Amino acid sequence: MEVIIVKDRDEGSELAARRLRNRVSSKPASVLGLATGQTPELLYRKLTEWQDSDPVNFKQVITFNLDEYMGLENSHPESYHYYMTTHFWGPLGILEDQRFIPNGLSKDPQQECLNYEAMIQEKGPIDLQLLGIGRDGHIGFNEPMSSLGSRTRIKTLTESTRKDNAAAFSSKSEVPYHVITMGIQTILEASEIVMLAFGDAKAEAIKGCVEGPLTSVCPASALQMHPRCKVIIDEAAAKRLQYQSYYREVYEKKPSWQKAEFV
Ligand code: GLP
Repeated sequence: MEVIIVKDRDEGSELAARRLRNRVSSKPASVLGLATGQTPELLYRKLTEWQDSDPVNFKQVITFNLDEYMGLENSHPESYHYYMTTHFWGPLGILEDQRFIPNGLSKDPQQECLNYEAMIQEKGPIDLQLLGIGRDGHIGFNEPMSSLGSRTRIKTLTESTRKDNAAAFSSKSEVPYHVITMGIQTILEASEIVMLAFGDAKAEAIKGCVEGPLTSVCPASALQMHPRCKVIIDEAAAKRLQYQSYYREVYEKKPSWQKAEFV
């Protein structure tokens, strides 16, 4: 796990956006795993803005989303389908047959999970998976006590996640209880993972993810098993980490060939 502590959200989003662009430049038919939430919004905005001055060809890219609420229409402003249309697929011109997201309206949700997992196996592996993190350490919608060997399936959200995500709905009672999410094992099969986290509210979860014991109590701790995972965090999210100064030193002393990943 490579922990990169940046000054703020802007610097972190820029680094992650550069990594993603580099991935797509060097492999135009990249398979990207994408996250939703407030965390990656600035990253997506930067990617979109850079297309005007220095375009990269996204035409062959295939995208898979981590998760979706069950029971929300695609046109619902809080559905992840709507989020992706607004922040990524629309602005970057990802065509319908190249973008995948679980269908939370499926009449047979269990079959939908199997189909989604099979589609990832068919088109994958995912070259680069972006992740955010919930305050309780969830990745995708893999809440605490999710099996570390899990694959795409239906999950029930915790009370705290429903509360955190309620801000964008008109009331908490509108937040669905059920979701479809890639599993932890599905996520771990990506060739490379980039996690982003900003702000005090994520400090506890980042502590568990980076330095905590490997445990399903903090699903993000499973990332410690991944051979190529970058965790890009601001100072507020890093504040509980024991080895902060070591992570900074590793990054400052990085050999130039490794720095090229972000150029
Ligand atoms: C949701 C999403 C996650 C996201 C998390 C954090 O639960 N399913 O993929 O990482 O929220 O969201 P935010 O970035 O808004 O803090």
